[in-house]
Amino acid sequence: MAVSDPLVVAARAARRRAVAPYSRFKVGAALETADGIVITGCNIENATYGLTVCAERVAMFTALAAGHRKFRRVAVVADTAAPTPPCGACRQILWEFGGDLEIILANLRREAGRHRLADLLPLPFDRRLLR
Ligand code: THU
Repeated sequence: MAVSDPLVVAARAARRRAVAPYSRFKVGAALETADGIVITGCNIENATYGLTVCAERVAMFTALAAGHRKFRRVAVVADTAAPTPPCGACRQILWEFGGDLEIILANLRREAGRHRLADLLPLPFDRRLLR
């Protein structure tokens, strides 16, 4: 098996901390800052279902709360054969605070694709339109 990107390794470790008793679909995310610091997140579910927060947003909000403002890449890991891409809400949040991030999708064994966020969120609504 090829050596995994350290960001993917961090996302796999974060996935183990997922709080997903309802869906049992555990997701981990690892966000790399411009300084090379890695901040992780996991999905956190709620009995209302609708208040569930995805791993990507937990990672981004944790990073922002710690004072980080510039980001390079994010890795997303789930235990699925097909890659698990960020949902629409997460794409919007990642774009707002991370811009055109590199998105690395992986499962427990291998990488399943690399994308630019601009390709996953074409024609975004953002602050440039608030005039
Ligand atoms: N989920 C994430 O955390 N990230 C994704 O990219 C897709 C979905 C979570 C939300 C919910 O806890 C579970 O996966 C099933 O949708």
